[in-house]
Amino acid sequence: MPLPPDPATPLPPDPEVFREVFGRFATGVAVITSSGPSGSGGMTANALCSLSLDPLLALVCFENRARTLPIVREAGRFGLNILRTGQEDVARVFASKLPEGEKLEGVDHRLEAGVPVIDGALAWAACELRELIAGGDHTIAIGEVVALGLGTGDPLLWYEGRYHSLPLTRDRR
Ligand SMILES: Cc1cc2nc3c(=O)[nH]c(=O)nc-3n(C[C@H](O)[C@H](O)[C@H](O)COP(=O)(O)O)c2cc1C
Repeated sequence: MPLPPDPATPLPPDPEVFREVFGRFATGVAVITSSGPSGSGGMTANALCSLSLDPLLALVCFENRARTLPIVREAGRFGLNILRTGQEDVARVFASKLPEGEKLEGVDHRLEAGVPVIDGALAWAACELRELIAGGDHTIAIGEVVALGLGTGDPLLWYEGRYHSLPLTRDRR
């Protein structure tokens, strides 16, 4: 039987180990959407966070090859849709390389503050693009929040390369 890895032994700082390390950072799952003059699109993302309360800012990291990035750049705004348990199929569509225009066509959504909001999302935010910052093979997009919404349900989770759902302990904070 292989021995468990010794946490005290440093591993090489290579992309495989990097992926494994960050794969242990359990996150929610979101879809970043946008709609502009040359079309609409979206991508599944977990590299996002709240950035500032005053002003209200959120950030998302786009792989430079993500087709959603030029749509966001052109539209100057993006939507952040936090998915709930049961929306794995939505996450898979937006993680795919389906023709960009077809992704939103197949998913029920509406426009809020100029950005596509996916029906049934656990929560959403509409952001106006404020800054794009280079970060290696990714681009960090900072957006100012102009509208917010809350849905119902439990979060869809991503951990060690798989979708999960949790029995939540709602009475403890
Ligand atoms: C759970 C999950 C999280 C992801 N997070 C990101 C992310 O934060 N940034 C990113 O650029 N791609 C992320 N991806 C990969 C994109 O969803 C994928 O490359 C997608 O095809 C991009 O679509 P697009 O080319 O239509 O923009 C993630 C994929 C999954 C399954």
